[in-house]
Amino acid sequence: MKKILVIHGPNLNLLGQREVNVYGTVTIDEINKELEKIAKAAKVSLKVMQSNHEGDIVEAIGSAKGEFDAILINPAAYTHTSVAIRDAVSAVGIPTVEVHLSNIYAREEFRHTSLIAPVAKGQVSGFGKASYVLGLEAAIGLIEK
Ligand code: DQA
Repeated sequence: MKKILVIHGPNLNLLGQREVNVYGTVTIDEINKELEKIAKAAKVSLKVMQSNHEGDIVEAIGSAKGEFDAILINPAAYTHTSVAIRDAVSAVGIPTVEVHLSNIYAREEFRHTSLIAPVAKGQVSGFGKASYVLGLEAAIGLIEK
């Protein structure tokens, strides 16, 4: 069975309580349940993690080679700052899809740059929970190719 590593970056554990005007009331558990449903239907297995620590995310990506066929990641604030996460994605060469709940291009200027996007297969931004759904479908499409 093909395997996808799902990574939620910093502060996404607070979804549902955090800046609901930007991120809505959806919780990380609700997102994960929806992703599990899609994965089950597609006969793909998911490993889901959330971390507030850059190094944990770098290590998870770095050790994904040989175990995972694709990565779905919302790098959250690290999108805009983390050369280390970008380098990890680039180093493992596992097809990676970047997602964001909010439209990062419609927000503050510092969010307009993603250091991850150039090493990702693609990015989905601005559709709330549906960004993850679309991103997972894209990742499944990549590994079925
Ligand atoms: C986010 C957008 C980032 O700019 C922000 O730092 C987040 C969440 C999103 O999903 O919209 O924490 O990645």
